[in-house]
Amino acid sequence: MPKTASLKIDDQELELPIIVGSEGEKAVDVRKLRASTGYITFDEGFGNTGSCQSEITFINGEEGILRYRGYPIEQLADKSNFIDVAYLVIYGELPTADQRSAFSARLSAESDLTEDMVRFISGFPKSTHPMSVLAASMNGLGAYYPHLATNNHKHDLGHFDDAAAIAMAKVRTIAAHSYRVTRGLPLNSPRAEYGYAETFLHLMFSEPGQDYVPTPEVASAINLFLLLHAEHEQNCSTSTVRMVASAGANLFASASAGVSALWGPLHGGANQAVLEMLTAIHEAGDDGSKFIEAAKNGEARLMGFGHRVYKNHDPRAKIIKGSFDKALESLGIIDDPLLDIARNLEAAALSDDYFISRKLYPNVDFYSGLIMNALKIPVDMFTVMFAIGRMPGWVAQWHEVAANPKSKINRPRQIYVGPTPRDVPDSV
Ligand code: SDX
Repeated sequence: MPKTASLKIDDQELELPIIVGSEGEKAVDVRKLRASTGYITFDEGFGNTGSCQSEITFINGEEGILRYRGYPIEQLADKSNFIDVAYLVIYGELPTADQRSAFSARLSAESDLTEDMVRFISGFPKSTHPMSVLAASMNGLGAYYPHLATNNHKHDLGHFDDAAAIAMAKVRTIAAHSYRVTRGLPLNSPRAEYGYAETFLHLMFSEPGQDYVPTPEVASAINLFLLLHAEHEQNCSTSTVRMVASAGANLFASASAGVSALWGPLHGGANQAVLEMLTAIHEAGDDGSKFIEAAKNGEARLMGFGHRVYKNHDPRAKIIKGSFDKALESLGIIDDPLLDIARNLEAAALSDDYFISRKLYPNVDFYSGLIMNALKIPVDMFTVMFAIGRMPGWVAQWHEVAANPKSKINRPRQIYVGPTPRDVPDSV
């Protein structure tokens, strides 16, 4: 493989270094391009642009490969659990038994919220979307733990383990509290004896005198959902976390920015948009075929289909689909009209050239929306669930920026296409 790429531009010939990753990904290093030629690169949407070198996640979109710290997602889904995978993503190795119990103990110890934080969350109007509460509250953690939220161009990582545990532990409690508050329901307190997923379901659904105890299948479906969402390299929200971290901002502020980016329906908000799409199709009396035609005419978008990177299949979608059938069986759900429509859309998209030619396969959000609906998770909590799952990834990626002594502030260039110089008229 050549060590450089030759660029002939104007009257110059330039040799640009080639960077090769540990899995053979290749990049032309253009860091000296502007200084040498006055040109910049242009790549709207960054589909051809590497923003960093990272040791956390590897994706091969053409082959549908996803690995966290070298471990294939299929093996992690089969043999591990969300807390161990969160530890792996953040610290680089699967935990030993001692490390697992210390990490779990930290998360349990940090699960509850202070009284004034509960008052802060309770101050939102009942009509507030839980993602709005989550974004505000994640940033708000810095106010309640100022010693963990110092903004510094040379990040102080002395308290990283505490900040990471608080982000992981509190995101779940804030999420559940935002659900209870917006429904006018009394808040539940975390239970040390419950696991991570079980605690979330307890916080969400227990009522005074009536604890919600999930079936093992439901707890396992939530645990798998969180594990599959734990990390995904430089997606929109994670790139946002890195962007904010690059300015020297603390973990809570950076994660809050990640929550805001994830909320968009083209990204993490797609799981909620999938359910809204299926419900609208059902209410229109359509079995999905009319909607497919509308999508092919560009009048509608098949939410839960397509991916910027996966052009073969989303490995997470395959795994979550498998667990989906088991969860439905344990819930005794046999016929669900939305499920029938979803299956019609999937069958059409996998056979119609419009979708095949554009490589629009079902992505993780297509099935995760269906699973959460079957588990009676409220639709406006779907993307919140995604944020809970993605927190380890955001923590790990923030740390990768913060711990890099050569890290630079992210500041892309642009091509200006606005008005050329003109004078302000005397009488405005
Ligand atoms: C996530 O990046 C990540 O890793 C994200 C994620 C993670 O874990 O962090 O994997 C999570 O965000 C998954 C994606 C969830 N979003 C959706 O399901 C929303 C629906 N999908 C799309 O809007 C779209 O596919 C994207 C946003 C996911 C990808 O968009 P791209 O790569 O910018 O593709 P594009 O918009 O340029 O579309 C290419 C063509 C266009 O048609 P033409 O202009 O060539 O005629 O495909 C069409 C698009 O109109 N198209 C779709 C479509 N997605 C793309 N047409 C109908 N339905 C769709 N879903």
